[in-house]
Amino acid sequence: FTPKVLAGKQVLLTAGPTFEAIDPVRGITNLSSGRMGYALARAARQAGAAVTLVSGPTGLPCPVGVARIDVTSALEMHGAVLSRAAASDVFIAVAAVADYRPAAPETRKIKKTAAGGEAMTLALTRNPDILSDVAALPAPPYCVGFAAESHDLAQYAEAKRVNKKLPLVVGNLIGDGFGGDSNKVILFDASGAHPLATTSKHGIARDIVARIAAALAG
Ligand code: C5P
Repeated sequence: FTPKVLAGKQVLLTAGPTFEAIDPVRGITNLSSGRMGYALARAARQAGAAVTLVSGPTGLPCPVGVARIDVTSALEMHGAVLSRAAASDVFIAVAAVADYRPAAPETRKIKKTAAGGEAMTLALTRNPDILSDVAALPAPPYCVGFAAESHDLAQYAEAKRVNKKLPLVVGNLIGDGFGGDSNKVILFDASGAHPLATTSKHGIARDIVARIAAALAG
């Protein structure tokens, strides 16, 4: 980026999945490679921002110059983000956070015999919505959400933007970007829907960063 459009800005991001323990060897998680979030962290850094990336389990290397905080569960991610959000100028929630976690994770491995044979029931409890909580702060950073949908993308993405009180939502259809290195996305803001050219996740990340910088400047 020339000029460095995010120079002097603090950017906080989440990326990757969360993992919610059932017992010491099992858990529930979401499918997320973490690539889009890592590409955005890298692009924000290249635009001159001080970048903190709160990451669920991904195997990806930390982008150069980015401070990474490793977390596992949604509750850990929530704590790591909320303790830093008020000091941030921008928050980009890319993580695929598990909506529910086991209500009472076992400290010892669950045995088939003890669990009851042919069927078992797992009680789940709702995780906090990290992005909604940040957007509801008294002086929130500029908040960007992601909406990955299998159908009716425009309706769901715009509803998410309004309900979570976000200036910007990045929508993509599941199948267009999952696991791969390229992605096809549509940006939703107060002025409407803006499709971006299909390109690499890094190219899309740079476009999104440029939009955020323009919004902060305007
Ligand atoms: O409501 P939904 O989960 O589809 O919203 C997706 C957006 O909200 C993403 O930006 C995601 O990172 C964020 N989110 C969050 N905390 C949750 C659930 C979603 O920050 N518990």
